[in-house]
Amino acid sequence: MRPWGLSVPLVCLITFLAGPVFAATAQKESPVPGESKACVDCHRQQKVAATAIEEWKMSTHAKEGVGCLDCHGAKKEDKDVFDHYGKLVATIVTPNDCAQCHEKESKQFQGSHHAKAGDILGSLDNFLGEVVEGPPAAISGCKQCHGSIVKILPGGKIDPTTWPNTGIGRINPDGSKGACTACHSRHLFSAKVARSPESCGKCHLGPDHPQKEIYDESKHGIAFYANRERMNLDSRSWVLGKDYTAAPTCATCHLSATPDLPVTHDPGERISWTLRPAISKKLENWERKRDTMKAVCANCHNPKFSGAFFTQYDITVELYNEKFAKPGAELMKNLRSAGKLTPTQFDEKIEWTWFLLWHHEGRRARHGASMMAPDFTQWHGFFEVAERFYMELLPEAEELLPGSTGFILAQDQHKWMKGISEEERDTMRKFYEERYGK
Ligand code: HEC
Ligand code: HEC
Ligand code: HEC
Ligand code: HEC
Ligand code: HEC
Ligand code: HEC
Ligand code: HEC
Ligand code: HEC
Repeated sequence: MRPWGLSVPLVCLITFLAGPVFAATAQKESPVPGESKACVDCHRQQKVAATAIEEWKMSTHAKEGVGCLDCHGAKKEDKDVFDHYGKLVATIVTPNDCAQCHEKESKQFQGSHHAKAGDILGSLDNFLGEVVEGPPAAISGCKQCHGSIVKILPGGKIDPTTWPNTGIGRINPDGSKGACTACHSRHLFSAKVARSPESCGKCHLGPDHPQKEIYDESKHGIAFYANRERMNLDSRSWVLGKDYTAAPTCATCHLSATPDLPVTHDPGERISWTLRPAISKKLENWERKRDTMKAVCANCHNPKFSGAFFTQYDITVELYNEKFAKPGAELMKNLRSAGKLTPTQFDEKIEWTWFLLWHHEGRRARHGASMMAPDFTQWHGFFEVAERFYMELLPEAEELLPGSTGFILAQDQHKWMKGISEEERDTMRKFYEERYGK
């Protein structure tokens, strides 16, 4: 039996009448906006960034009639403007340019920590990059993630030591901050790219902030990679629970929409601790930010379950703070005020020891706990923190200033260093004997 009870001739008639309409839609090439036609034709012909044009043609932008000049068009007072075959053009496209049409996204982004990531000049890490290592290391390293200050040379050319650069806090010639292309790779500008964990992973990885590796080995990453084809990453609408259910990506938890939360371009709206400094702090209005993040989890978990996770996370950050970070910071301060350390950073071994402890190992321990990667919390985290603290930091401090670690060893939490009790030893011996034999 035929499903809709239609006769064969009637189906043929409908197909015949509708045919031309379908064909026209299928074959319709996005129109090149009038002003962009010359750009497209010449760039194709001269093979200058020619494939970029093909990508643009496939983009939502091209379909909506957003052409080359809508983004690259410039005014004669712009610092980086040049006359390009009769049109005023700039190569750099800034959040201000995108803001002509995406004001909300641009405003949120410019108000975020991301947009401020170029302000690292006064930091300890910056001294390390620019001075201890050397400027080209900072150009090809730090600034490719944090952002350069894009300089325009006399005559209008871009200083090649400052661009190409899509650092997230890039400081642009028009004074705006950031590069939307840090997440929205050109010229497709597809939300799919930004929603993929690999996109955040250009910057959020490595020994001092391994968020990408942490995610990959967490239950969330596992669920994502196993079910990627069901994630609907290419959909225009991407609301958790409506357009996908299989797993959260970085964007899901930090930026994207749920039935109750809009998309945000400020990831700080959902973060309660900062895990970046030597000693972690709760951020301003942290309760509200925590609740916002919990509202994301609640789409997939019972609130009791995700609430208990946050208990585990908080006590782990507090353990790191109280047991290692605060005593370590005080020890370093004491050594400095006793004249045992010069004002110059990184010229004494213990300064490297301390830096590795909080900036690498201590962050890994905290980051692992924040996003459910026990191996990072333990073996790449607390294990290394403990080894660095007891086997390097304390002995090196004793060598510089005998007696300087006394206040630490007097603390209850470090008293095991003086030897464990008879009773504790017996319990441990019994455990091993039962398990592995005498
Ligand atoms: C008649 C040919 C021609 C036309 C028309 C043309 N371009 Fe170009 N464009 C070029 C060539 C050739 C280069 C490479 C020149 C160079 O590297 O100095 C270039 C380079 C560029 C660059 C990169 C400049 C840089 O600093 O790296 C941008 C951006 C650009 N064109 C945008 C446009 C836009 C937007 C339009 C349309 C308004 C356009 N072009 C029209 C030929 C053309
Ligand atoms: C939605 C905005 C947008 C549109 C539309 C757009 N571009 Fe771009 N384009 C960018 C951004 C962003 C960059 C990166 C520049 C930067 O780092 O600020 C860029 C870079 C470029 C570059 C230099 C980079 C390279 O890889 O060589 C060229 C050339 C260029 N665009 C040409 C074009 C042409 C031609 C068109 C039209 C077919 C076009 N663009 C349309 C945003 C746009
Ligand atoms: C002249 C207006 C205009 C400019 C300039 C512009 N866009 Fe768009 N953009 C649009 C329109 C229209 C859409 C489609 C409607 C929507 O999704 O908001 C769009 C959609 C998008 C999307 C979603 C695309 C998708 O397929 O899901 C992204 C991402 C985006 N734009 C980023 C940018 C960035 C980044 C810049 C600057 C480099 C920029 N746009 C500049 C008009 C513009
Ligand atoms: C691979 C990309 C990448 C490189 C290279 C990089 N950073 Fe970072 N940096 C980040 C990310 C991502 C964060 C934020 C980590 C987090 O939130 O856990 C960060 C955080 C920081 C912070 C802390 C900011 C704050 O608000 O407390 C400073 C300072 C910093 N980086 C400076 C530097 C310097 C200087 C260099 C070069 C010596 C450098 N970074 C190299 C990606 C990078
Ligand atoms: C940290 C990465 C990141 C940066 C930087 C970023 N975006 Fe996005 N953007 C995203 C993500 C992720 C989405 C997809 C949100 C969704 O639909 O789940 C998105 C979506 C969009 C959309 C589609 C509309 C929507 O709400 O889904 C537009 C338009 C857009 N971004 C514009 C911009 C502009 C303009 C900038 C620069 C001012 C920018 N973005 C910078 C990550 C980023
Ligand atoms: C081009 C590099 C880069 C990319 C790509 C990037 N980030 Fe970041 N992110 C940073 C840097 C650098 C910081 C630290 C900024 C600072 O504190 O100065 C940061 C900070 C953050 C923070 C802390 C914000 C706060 O207010 O405390 C979160 C959360 C975050 N990023 C999430 C993401 C997510 C999710 C993505 C992908 C959708 C992403 N980032 C893509 C470089 C990047
Ligand atoms: C299941 C949700 C979830 C996913 C998926 C997720 N995160 Fe997170 N992320 C969190 C939570 C929860 C925190 C801790 C928030 C707090 O302190 O309140 C956090 C913290 C962070 C921070 C702040 C670290 C700091 O130093 O202060 C960054 C940066 C970050 N995540 C980036 C990422 C990136 C990049 C990805 C993907 C590779 C990702 N996250 C995937 C939930 C998630
Ligand atoms: C898109 C749905 C989704 C979202 C959103 C989500 N999770 Fe999950 N979560 C999962 C899935 C799927 C698993 C794997 C369950 C399993 O092991 O069978 C999981 C597992 C977990 C686990 C167990 C980890 C382990 O190693 O056993 C914890 C804890 C967790 N999630 C906490 C959170 C928290 C906290 C948030 C919000 C910050 C969150 N989840 C957001 C889907 C989600």
